[in-house]
Amino acid sequence: MVEETDFAPEFAKAGPNDFQATFIKEPPVSVDKIPSIRDKRFSTNIAELDRVLGGGVVPGSVTLIGGDPGIGKSTLLLQVSDSLSGRRRVLYVSGEESIQQTKLRADRVGSASGQLFIVNETNLDSIQDYINRLKPQIVIIDSIQVIYKDALSSSPGSVSQVRLCAQELTFMAKKMGVSIFLVGHVTKDGSIAGPRVLEHIVDTVLYFEGERHMSFRLLRAVKNRFGSTNEIGIFQMSENGLLEVPNPSGIFLEERPKGISGFVVVPTMEGTRPLLVEVQALVSPTNFAVAKRETRGVDYNRISLLSAVLERRAGLELGKFDIYVNVAGGVNITEPAVDLGIVIAVASNYKDSPCDYDCVVMGEVGLGGEIRGINRIEKRLKESERLGFKRALIPKSNLSGVNKVNMEIIPVSFLKEALEAAFEK
Ligand code: TYD
Ligand code: MG
Repeated sequence: MVEETDFAPEFAKAGPNDFQATFIKEPPVSVDKIPSIRDKRFSTNIAELDRVLGGGVVPGSVTLIGGDPGIGKSTLLLQVSDSLSGRRRVLYVSGEESIQQTKLRADRVGSASGQLFIVNETNLDSIQDYINRLKPQIVIIDSIQVIYKDALSSSPGSVSQVRLCAQELTFMAKKMGVSIFLVGHVTKDGSIAGPRVLEHIVDTVLYFEGERHMSFRLLRAVKNRFGSTNEIGIFQMSENGLLEVPNPSGIFLEERPKGISGFVVVPTMEGTRPLLVEVQALVSPTNFAVAKRETRGVDYNRISLLSAVLERRAGLELGKFDIYVNVAGGVNITEPAVDLGIVIAVASNYKDSPCDYDCVVMGEVGLGGEIRGINRIEKRLKESERLGFKRALIPKSNLSGVNKVNMEIIPVSFLKEALEAAFEK
C-alpha cells in the first residue's frame, strides 16, 4: 500500500524508528501475499463520491478535495463525516469556521452522531496530538491552507507551510491507517498556495467543478492511486446540503429550448458513464479586426480548428463572425467525440436553422472534414434512447458497433453529409 519514497527531510523528525518500521525494514513480499487494498475499502454511503474514489475510502489514504471557495467542499466533507460517524470515529478539524458554525451546518445536512468530533484548530502539533489521542479512523482538515507548523517561520498558506503540513499528515495517515481528507481552496491570489502544490504528496486528488450560480457540482478525480481518474460524481446543492443526481443527463437537458438554432445534444462519456449535454453556439458579425472565438466547457483551440474546417470543407464564411461556444450546465468536455456537435451547432446558428430536436450527434471531425470513429458508441446510444431521442448521427465507421438500439441511426463519413442530415426537416 505504501509507495511514497520521496519524503522530505522533515520526515526524519518523525523518528527514525517509526520511519524504518513503516517504510524500510519490511522485507520484500511475494505479490500474491499482499492483501488487496480493495478488500479494505469502506463506503461513504454517498454513491457519487464512492464512485470517484474508485469504490470507497481506502484506510490510510490521503485525499485532497480542491475547488473554488464556496463551491461546497466543507458541505460535502461534513456530509461524509456525518454519514461515516455512525460506524466510525471521525475528527473534523475546522480551521476556518467556529465549531458553532460547523455544528449549524452539520444540523443542516445530517443527523450528527456522537462519534463525530469537531475542533477549531490550526496548529499542526495540536492536531497531531488530537489524532493520537482520539484515534479517529477518518480525519478532515478544513482547510490545509490555514494549518501551520510552529517550527516554520513562514505564514500559514505559504507553499512551505502547506507542503510540510500535508506531508506530516500523510505520514501520520500511513502510520496509523487513518484516512485523511484535506480541503484545498483554489486560489487566484498567488500569495496563498493552491491545491496543485499538494498533488504529488497525496494519494487522490478530487476537484469540485461547477458554476457558483448554478446548483450542479461535478466532482472529478484528477489523480487516484486507488482507482480510475475518469470518473465523475454529480451533485446538486440544495437547502440541505449536496444531493446526489441519479439522472444527470436528464437534468442537463432540462432547459433545452425548442426551435432555436445553434443547439445540439451530444452524448459524451465521463469515465464509464454516458452523459448527455447540450452544446450551444452563437455566431454573430464581428466588430473586431480579428473575429473573436470564445468557449466555455470546450477547448478554445478546438474551436479555431473546427471553424477553419467549416470554412474550408463546408464553405461557411466564418472569418467575419465572432463565435461563442458553450456547454450548458457548467460541464467541461475534453473528448474529441464532441467535435461534430460543435460544428453542427455553429453551422446551425450561422444558417439560423434549428437542428433536429430529437437527434443526438457524436463524432470526431478531422482536418479533411472527415467524421472519425469514437469509442463506446453503444453506451452513448443507449443513454440517448433512454432519454427519448429518436435519431442519432454517428460516424460511419462506428456502424458495426451498433446493435439493438431503438433509434434511427444516421451514419455519416463527411462533414457535408452531416450538415445535410442534422437540421429540422
Ligand atoms: P461550502 O461547503 O461552505 O463551500 P467551500 O467549503 O467549498 O468554500 O459551501 C458554501 C455554499 O453552499 C454557500 O453558498 C451556501 C451553500 N449551501 C447550501 O446551499 N445548502 C447547504 O445545505 C449548505 C450547507 C450550504
Ligand atoms: Mg469551506
